[in-house]
Amino acid sequence: MLQTRVNSGLDGVIVADTVMSEVDGEAGRLIVRGRSIEELALRTGFEGVAALLWTDFAPADQGGSGDERAVREGFASARVRAFGEVPKLLAATKGLTPVEGLRVGLGMLADSELMPHHYLVCGALPVFLATLLRASEGKSALAPDPTLTTAQDLLRMIRGKRVDAIFEQALDTYLATITDHGFNASTFTARVVASTHAGLISSVLAGLCALKGPLHGGALGPVLDMFDDIGSLDRAGAWFDDAFSKGTTLMGFGHRIYKVRDPRADVLKNTVATLPQTSGRLAFAVEVETAAIAALRRHKPGRRLDTNVEYYTALLLEALEVPRSAFTALFAVGRAAGWCAHIFEQEKGGRIIRPQSNYVGPRPAA
Ligand code: ACO
Repeated sequence: MLQTRVNSGLDGVIVADTVMSEVDGEAGRLIVRGRSIEELALRTGFEGVAALLWTDFAPADQGGSGDERAVREGFASARVRAFGEVPKLLAATKGLTPVEGLRVGLGMLADSELMPHHYLVCGALPVFLATLLRASEGKSALAPDPTLTTAQDLLRMIRGKRVDAIFEQALDTYLATITDHGFNASTFTARVVASTHAGLISSVLAGLCALKGPLHGGALGPVLDMFDDIGSLDRAGAWFDDAFSKGTTLMGFGHRIYKVRDPRADVLKNTVATLPQTSGRLAFAVEVETAAIAALRRHKPGRRLDTNVEYYTALLLEALEVPRSAFTALFAVGRAAGWCAHIFEQEKGGRIIRPQSNYVGPRPAA
């Protein structure tokens, strides 16, 4: 029977079983294939999380056996392969932001490409991102080093040389922490496209397009813009009251699923604290966060809004000296491995995703 009750935003709608991850919004818990996010962030790097997610889904010799080394080698070869696309990428992306550039770059990859597509996209994104950033500073692209991990090589390609291991470790923790997160908007989008059998590259590109929005992965840069605008702590309370009077959405706060603090916020806050010369900025962010939560309680009572992952991600990426304009693109580098996992899962057992709408327009005269 046709249902006519509309569920705006698919709030609370369960559309699939998944073994990938569980977001418990009441307890503030995230489980990725049986491991807590806190444990994963502490013990597993980005390639390890990708291998974990792809276990039993990717072909056995391409990460499907959970072999982290195979994934690391696959990503490294893919970075080298993707570097061959750099001249075409640069010619096609003049004047674009990094995330727009990644959209073009993924669009250039052919479905007929022989390299496994999950490796290809995960290798291409860091190479394209570093290339686009360097080009925006008038610098030429740096070839990837296949002996390194994604995090090590990405920072090297952006900065032009290896950086202190503590920064590489922090980026690796970030990528591992944000690889997968249930049926968020970009993952769901990737699964919808995968459900039509359009292929992995198209599905990942669709995920990237959804991630780009300011309500999802595009909230990162605006968190720092907010810090700039607040300026000093004594202005924070008044700044938030003014923001609410104008109907401003506070970036880095609120979540569809989490009704308490997002557990990834603390993982990343702790990661920022490991980096040198961050204590002043971190203390500022903690005070601003307290003022923001107080303002949310005052102006949006009963809505259960708290800090989400974007808040401390912004601080971490700033400490890694990644330009603000590239934050969302960097998010995509990590999340792409999660999209691939969901695409595999969707392709393995899912049907075409095709919901219904309730027609409320005019009808032809009888
Ligand atoms: N600032 C101020 N008010 C907010 C915020 C916020 N950040 N988030 C929600 N609210 C308010 C809404 O205005 C609404 O108020 P109302 O009842 O008076 O109309 C109420 O809380 C419920 O909000 P919804 O928009 O219905 O919540 P929804 O689940 O649809 O949206 C979202 C979730 C998009 C994340 C929202 O909280 C938001 O826009 N946050 C800011 C952007 C952000 O940080 N995005 C990153 C999320 S994490 C990620 O995607 C990786």
